[in-house]
Amino acid sequence: MTTDASKALTEIRFPDDFLFGAATAAYQTEGAAEEDGKGISIWDTFCAQPGKIYRGDNGNIACDSYHRTEEDLDLLSALNLNAYRFSIAWPRIQPEGRGAVNQKGIDYYNRIIDGLLERGIAPAATIYHWDLPQALEDIGGWVNRDTAGYLADYAAICAEAFGDRIDRFITINEPQIVAKLGYRTGDFAPGIADPVKGGMATHHIMLAHGLALQAIRASKHGSVPTGITVDLTAIVSLDEESREEAIQIDREVNGLYLDPVLLGKYPEIDRSEMLPPDHVILDGDMDVISTEIDFIGINYYQPHIIRSLSGRGLAFDEYEYFNHPTVAGVKPIDMPLTDMGWLVDAGGLEEILQKVHCLTKKPIYITENGCAVSDYVDPTGAIHDHERISYIHDHLLACWHAIEQGINLKGYYHWSMMDNFEWAQGYSKRFGIVYVDFLTHKRIPKDSAFFYAAIAKSKTMPLNT
Ligand code: BGC
Repeated sequence: MTTDASKALTEIRFPDDFLFGAATAAYQTEGAAEEDGKGISIWDTFCAQPGKIYRGDNGNIACDSYHRTEEDLDLLSALNLNAYRFSIAWPRIQPEGRGAVNQKGIDYYNRIIDGLLERGIAPAATIYHWDLPQALEDIGGWVNRDTAGYLADYAAICAEAFGDRIDRFITINEPQIVAKLGYRTGDFAPGIADPVKGGMATHHIMLAHGLALQAIRASKHGSVPTGITVDLTAIVSLDEESREEAIQIDREVNGLYLDPVLLGKYPEIDRSEMLPPDHVILDGDMDVISTEIDFIGINYYQPHIIRSLSGRGLAFDEYEYFNHPTVAGVKPIDMPLTDMGWLVDAGGLEEILQKVHCLTKKPIYITENGCAVSDYVDPTGAIHDHERISYIHDHLLACWHAIEQGINLKGYYHWSMMDNFEWAQGYSKRFGIVYVDFLTHKRIPKDSAFFYAAIAKSKTMPLNT
C-alpha cells in the first residue's frame, strides 16, 4: 500500500518558466583581441605587463569564441539551456570608449543574439564586464567621473542596436571587483593600488550603473528589463567577539554595492576609507544610482566564515581575511574547497537570497555560480568532474528551497559555460561545464554538462546526487 510517508520526495521540480542558463564574459572567451576594429582594453594592457597574470597568460586568443560563434551556439542548444548570459566588449563597440561606433562589433553581437533566438535561448547581455577601453583609462578610468557618462552613452548604443531582441540587460558586473581589485588593491586591471582612488572608483561605477539604466530606459527599446549584477557573500561569525566585525564586513563587501541601488544610500562603515569620499558624491547622485531596477542579479561563489583572532583552539584551518587585524577567516573541517581555494557552502546562497528578498521583491537571477575544478581529459576522452556535479546540485537545491519559501528567484546562470581566461589566474583555473583544450580549442562537455543538461530539459533534479 502506498502511504504519503512512503512517497518521500526523491526529486524536486522547478517552475516551468525558470531559466537554466550559463554565463561567459567577452574578455575571458572571445579572443580576437585586435580584430575587426576592436580597440585595446585595460585587460589587454594589464596582461602585457610582466608578473600580473599567472604564467604570463592573456586573453588574446582565449576560447577563440569570436571565430566559433555557431559551434558555441550549437553547444548551448545541445545542453538544453534556455538562457545565456554574455558580455559586450565596450572596445569592440567603441574602440576609444567614446565617439565612433565600430559596425563590425555590432555585427558580431547581432550574430550571437540572432543565433540564440533561432535556438530558443534567451539572451542576457552584460554591458560592462571589466574591459574598459584603454583610451578612457588614459584619462583617469573609473577615478574620473566622466567615465560614468561615457558608459551611459555606450549603454544607449547597445540598447538601440540590440534592445529589440534582448531578454535583459545587466549594466555592470560586480562593481566591487572593478573598484576594489582594479583601483584599491591593484590585483586586477588597471592595477592601481590607492585607497582614495578605490573609493572614488566605487562611487563612479555605481553612478555609471544608474546613468546606464536611465539611458537604456530613454532609448527606443526602453522597456527591456534592466538590472545590475552584484557579487554577494554570506558572512558567518563563529564567536561573540567577531559578531560586530561580521556586521562591518557585511556592509563593506555586500552593503556598499547593494544599499545604494536598493536603498539610495551607502551603508555606515567604521573603516570609512572603504566609502567613497564625500566630495565625489554630488547632489542627485544617489537618486540616479537608486533608479528603480527591473531585477537584481547575484553572483555567489562562497561564504566567508570568521572568528576572532583570540578565539583559537577549535578544529578549523585559518585563512587570512582581508589582512584583518582582529578576525581570521576559517575553513570548517567539513567544508570542501574548490580549486580556487574557495569554500563550498550552498547554505550561504540560501542565506543571501533570503537577505536580498528582505530588501526587494523584484525578480532575482543568479547570474553566476560555479566552481573551479582541476579537470583533465581521461584516457577515454571523458571529464569526470564529480565535484562540480555536487556543487551544481547543492546550489540548485538551495535555489529550489528559496523558491519554495516564496523568494522571487527566476533563473540560474552557471559560471561558466566553458573553461576560459580566469583573469589573474590565466588558464590555470577551469570553471566550465565544457572543457576547452586551449591549444586546439576543441570543446568537450564534462560530466557536469550532461548532468546540468538533464536538469535543464526536465526542470527536475534528483534530491540526492
Ligand atoms: C566574475 C567572473 C569570474 C568568476 C570566477 C566572477 O567574479 O564575474 O568573470 O571568472 O567570478 O572568478
